[in-house]
Amino acid sequence: MTTRILFVCLGNICRSPAAEGVVRAQAEAAGLDWQIDSAGIGNWHRGASPDPRMLAAAARRGVDLSGQRARQVRQQDFHSFSHILAMDNSNSVVLQRAAPLTSLAEIRLFLPFAPELSTTEVPDPYYGGTAGFEHVLDLIEAAGRGLIAALRDGARR
Ligand code: 4NP
Repeated sequence: MTTRILFVCLGNICRSPAAEGVVRAQAEAAGLDWQIDSAGIGNWHRGASPDPRMLAAAARRGVDLSGQRARQVRQQDFHSFSHILAMDNSNSVVLQRAAPLTSLAEIRLFLPFAPELSTTEVPDPYYGGTAGFEHVLDLIEAAGRGLIAALRDGARR
């Protein structure tokens, strides 16, 4: 089965678009044909581009997020994706509650794919400064590497 990953945060303008862009680039570099998307728990930013601060921080690392537009998680996602990876515990709880009994997706936190990190949650950078966006990208790059190592053989864990 094709690996299809949905990254989820609260607004789908900071953390999950960054994860979508970074992990897509990592997967392509690893020669993997993965389908990757992102969505938000909330609907406030529907249709919006990623936050300009995250666009800029990702661009400095060679990752282009400019084609992305925010959308909300929908029921179909639980059938379309093999993995739905949450940025924080709050996102994860909402996803677990929203998942239909027939959900085929494995719903997990994203950061535990990098067990060397001292945290399991990606902090929301929205109300902070530039350093917060850099920190988010550092965490995502590490977890993306761990995710690829874990799933590249097709195993689900
Ligand atoms: P994100 O950050 O969940 O990483 O996209 C946020 C962006 C916007 C809001 C909250 C979090 N907001 O409340 O508008």
